[in-house]
Amino acid sequence: MVKRNTCIFISGKGSNLKNLINKSREYNFPIKVKLVICDNIEAKGIMYAKKNSIPYLIINTKIRNFENKIINELLKRKISLICLAGYMKIISKKFIQSFKRKIINIHPSLLPKFKGLNTFARILKEKEVKTGCTVHFVNEKLDSGRIIVQKKFYIDKNDNILDLKNKTQKLEYIAFPEAIIKVFRNS
Ligand code: GRF
Repeated sequence: MVKRNTCIFISGKGSNLKNLINKSREYNFPIKVKLVICDNIEAKGIMYAKKNSIPYLIINTKIRNFENKIINELLKRKISLICLAGYMKIISKKFIQSFKRKIINIHPSLLPKFKGLNTFARILKEKEVKTGCTVHFVNEKLDSGRIIVQKKFYIDKNDNILDLKNKTQKLEYIAFPEAIIKVFRNS
């Protein structure tokens, strides 16, 4: 199996990163995690890169042209897939145009509902019956690219924000790998 060089972008806890690193060790899983990009020096998720000897780059997004620096790293390592896994910075149009390969993102709602931040609080406020997660291609509009995989569950009347987050993340660990397999299935 030819494994595609993949870069995972994170900003925080990195539990999806951890899950994808584990999956990538499976013989039939189509990616190899070659690089981790992080925009937050305090992100806990960096430890998964360290523990697994995966090169990582902590990016200062306040400097001009920081995205060029990222693009150079991606080219150097022949990256053909970017997975945004809790990366909190918006990817610019210019970046998307210059990368030219696949970029996918995981979002904690059933898109197109609840794009953007603070999804769980808004979901509870709107008294939604069900929610879940979505993996989608990244385009120039926030959380709006073509949907690859969606997983849903029914909200319990006692669920609070933390319950929704935990239930959603459990599904994310299934949805993200499934989406990656789907992305490479016919290529
Ligand atoms: C995930 O819930 C994802 O949906 C959102 O950010 C969270 C990242 O969690 N975009 P983790 O850092 O992978 O634990």
